[in-house]
Amino acid sequence: MASRFTPLARNAARRFAGARPGLLYPSPTVAAATRTLHDGPSRRNKPGSHSQTDSDIEIPFPPEEELPSDPVRRAGGQYVKPTLQTFSLDKNVGLVTGGARGLGLVIAQGMVYSGADVALVDMNSSFADLSTEEEAEKQTKCLVESFMRENPDAERVPKVTAHFSDVSDPVSVDACIAEVIEQHGKIDHLVTSAGFTENYEAVNYPIDRLRKLWAVNVDGTYLFATSVARHLMERKAPGSMVLIGSMSGSIVNVPQPQTPYNVSKAGVRHLAASLAVEWADVSIRVNCLSPGYMMTALPISNKVSNASTGKILNENPELKKKWVSLIPMGKMGDPSDLMGPVIFLLSENSKYVNGIDLKVDGGYTLT
Ligand SMILES: NC(=O)c1ccc[n+]([C@@H]2O[C@H](COP(=O)([O-])OP(=O)(O)OC[C@H]3O[C@@H](n4cnc5c(N)ncnc54)[C@H](O)[C@@H]3O)[C@@H](O)[C@H]2O)c1
Repeated sequence: MASRFTPLARNAARRFAGARPGLLYPSPTVAAATRTLHDGPSRRNKPGSHSQTDSDIEIPFPPEEELPSDPVRRAGGQYVKPTLQTFSLDKNVGLVTGGARGLGLVIAQGMVYSGADVALVDMNSSFADLSTEEEAEKQTKCLVESFMRENPDAERVPKVTAHFSDVSDPVSVDACIAEVIEQHGKIDHLVTSAGFTENYEAVNYPIDRLRKLWAVNVDGTYLFATSVARHLMERKAPGSMVLIGSMSGSIVNVPQPQTPYNVSKAGVRHLAASLAVEWADVSIRVNCLSPGYMMTALPISNKVSNASTGKILNENPELKKKWVSLIPMGKMGDPSDLMGPVIFLLSENSKYVNGIDLKVDGGYTLT
């Protein structure tokens, strides 16, 4: 029986072969090697095949230029209706890794709406050269403008800055934290959203890709959490951190094979729990937030979605059907669904919540 996902695999292989070599993209040599290894017998027609991973699905991370980077639009900011004051992050400083696009950018927007000054951190190429005032400047302006549009009477406009860092490199991480402290004076909150996923069956997963994945998803989270904690400890100040995990840290997604990603997110979940215990006595709270399937970069204005998730699903409606059929709420999440949960975990409202894994997955992990 032909796989329903064969087109996806073929498309992915084409993209893979054409991808430019670089940090996040496998080299054509690796791609060729992977495809040669890939000619094993089909393992699809066995009992329970609907809840199995499918080795035909290979999805490398898409090239940078195919990914969008705009904040979402939504009605109503913090001053529109009464709410608990304890939700406010007013005058606090938050740092968001992976803040150039996707979930990180939307989360940063939620923090700005809640009054926080925010440092966007990314390795996005434009963040490396801030003097060009390109993407990074665009993001910071966008966030401030959307805050002002939705809060015309606000007494204070949050400060938003952009910084380059490769989260997997300790030297780059420490330099970035020093730069953020220099520009903002302090850091109170951390959200680690830098991360990526790729799909290859475990027996054919290129080892250099696996190491890169863990270096970004696990080491990167660890390095930022510990570096911000050192700063908080020096200041003898309380702080709260949200490490972005994934429901894949608790369950095994089907049908796409992604064992190393699942392992990395299980690591992030337990990293949050372990650090929460280690730092509880110095009032640094650490929680994990695990999204389910989020439709990253839903159409903004009239732009067509082309983010990693949106792009993959636009090209593979069968995959979307399969995913949605497994979600009790019957739909994928909107990135803005994460704003409230993250603000809750960062704010004083969760001051006795420590080391949890908050799943925002439409009930996926319950069944
Ligand atoms: N989108 C989803 O459905 C979903 C679901 C569960 C978990 N997640 C997790 O949420 C996080 C964000 O996902 P997303 O969908 O927004 O992805 P995304 O690709 O849109 O954004 C990730 C950002 O991280 C940055 N980044 C990657 N490697 C980096 C590095 N070494 N140093 C600094 N920055 C780096 C990228 O440049 C990008 O801006 C990831 O950790 C992902 O695993 C996403």
